[in-house]
Amino acid sequence: MKTVRVNASKQYEVRIKDGLLKEAGQQILTVKKACSCVLVSDETVFSIYGETVVQSLQNAGFCVHTFLIPPGESSKSTANLVNLWEYLADCNITRSDLLVALGGGVVGDLTGFAAATFLRGIDFVQIPTTLLAMVDSSVGGKTAVDLQHGKNLAGAFYQPSLVLCDPSALGTLTPEIFADGMAEVIKYGFINRPELIEKLEKQADITDIITLCVEDKRDIVEQDERDNGCRQLLNLGHTLAHGIELHSGYTVSHGSAVAVGMVLITKAAVKATLCPQETLDILLNLLQKYNLPTKTQFTCEQLCEAALEDKKRKGSFITLVIPTQTGRSELKKTAIEDLPAFLIKAWDNT
Ligand code: NAD
Ligand code: GLY
Repeated sequence: MKTVRVNASKQYEVRIKDGLLKEAGQQILTVKKACSCVLVSDETVFSIYGETVVQSLQNAGFCVHTFLIPPGESSKSTANLVNLWEYLADCNITRSDLLVALGGGVVGDLTGFAAATFLRGIDFVQIPTTLLAMVDSSVGGKTAVDLQHGKNLAGAFYQPSLVLCDPSALGTLTPEIFADGMAEVIKYGFINRPELIEKLEKQADITDIITLCVEDKRDIVEQDERDNGCRQLLNLGHTLAHGIELHSGYTVSHGSAVAVGMVLITKAAVKATLCPQETLDILLNLLQKYNLPTKTQFTCEQLCEAALEDKKRKGSFITLVIPTQTGRSELKKTAIEDLPAFLIKAWDNT
């Protein structure tokens, strides 16, 4: 088993091994004694893995209640948060009890926020079942629900007590959802991991890849848990991705939008001579290899407009993440009036 220790405001381990779902109860017993727990999942994930995890928790002595939500982003809602709080109260969950999130980033973010706020904070364990959730959302303590005004607008930084990644669970993902996670994996390579890019160019072992990404996220979160500095590097491609998702009415998936966002910001950097052409070529090849898109139908004007509404904007500045060489990116504070002129070159195909 691979183990990554995270030393943030709370210390915890990310354990990565095929078959961990079956051992969930025993694994959790190493950080928490048997208690009442509420297992939160979505209907799709629960129909495949629910019985295995419930059985394992019960065998380890946990008293298990389950709370299910429909699959999809629309479930990361204030309505489901309130329903979950009420359910926790119905189950007489106390401060010494536990929440367990079994699913992708939607389940993890909602459960984490409920754990952060119910009784002013109870323990929770993340059992991510998508690649995106294994390499990104389950680690680092960002929890949230969406508001009508936008994604993740209400949330808290609240670290889990344990993260259990079972890569064998990725076998039941659709190719599209797997590819979404690969966009985030490729992102880590271009932020600061040239060796990850080399692995991805060959045939890489998925457990190794997850471990490298989690180590990377751990390093970043330990330096900047509250997202005021280097953690913003994790937003590579995301400012433009946000606009693509918004203008498509969320029909373009997050991973696909991040892939295109990374291409556009890298192209703009190449045109501004901040980054070599070779880096863009390597990025394009990798995205194609992992079945991710590299182009958008939306205009620079549309994406700039959305970027300026992004919650990451601070006053009249926005912090861009700019690739400067293969496997290295830097933060660049940019005045909002300079943004269109910088980005428009990414639409110039000469
Ligand atoms: P998701 O949770 O919606 O899962 C995608 C789909 O995959 C769902 O339909 C789900 O039912 C299905 N699924 C999950 N695991 C499966 C499995 N093993 N087999 C078959 N089907 C499975 O989406 P996601 O991509 O995991 O997460 C996206 C969410 O994560 C967004 O809300 C995003 O804002 C959030 N996020 C949070 C962070 C963070 O740091 N907290 C980081 C990145 C993304
Ligand atoms: N996924 C971005 C972050 O955790 O900061």
